[in-house]
Amino acid sequence: MLLALTGFMGSGKTSVGRIVADALGCPFLDLDAIIEKAGERSIPEIFAADGEEGFRKLEEKYLRSTLGKYSGSTAVLALGGGTVTVPGAIPLLQEKTLCIYLKATPESLAGHLEGNSSNRPLLQEGKLIENIRERLSGREKLYREAAHIILETDGLSPKEIADEIIIDCL
Ligand code: S3P
Repeated sequence: MLLALTGFMGSGKTSVGRIVADALGCPFLDLDAIIEKAGERSIPEIFAADGEEGFRKLEEKYLRSTLGKYSGSTAVLALGGGTVTVPGAIPLLQEKTLCIYLKATPESLAGHLEGNSSNRPLLQEGKLIENIRERLSGREKLYREAAHIILETDGLSPKEIADEIIIDCL
């Protein structure tokens, strides 16, 4: 089973995913890291050179190839916060993964992202909390559509979220 974690930036996809993969003894995959490694460019470099549109094209390409490569195996995949906006991503995630939405309030996300958003090109403009509120309200529906399971994560540590996934969702 391929477990995919979705949710906004700062929702803990990567830290929770690592813990779950460790506990299951299976590979941990991070879509952003796969894209960075493949092109030998950081996410901010990709956005600076090719814009958001260029990044989404790469995201679509590596989402498809990763789901193809790991279909039928056990692995945990942390998606990017915007992967659900990629055309065709939602049906693909529904069909090929067990997709879990790590749902958090804008306040809790801002708490995680405060002082920790310099490598996230989409969070460079305006006031952090307003940026999060606006983007999240546009994406909430997409996260819900992609996910088989929604986990409310406010107030929980990555370990507690991972335990909940292992005990209640698998
Ligand atoms: C993005 C989220 C980032 C990364 C890129 C765009 C988004 O991933 O893919 O900066 O559109 O929400 P994380 O959610 O892992 O920060």
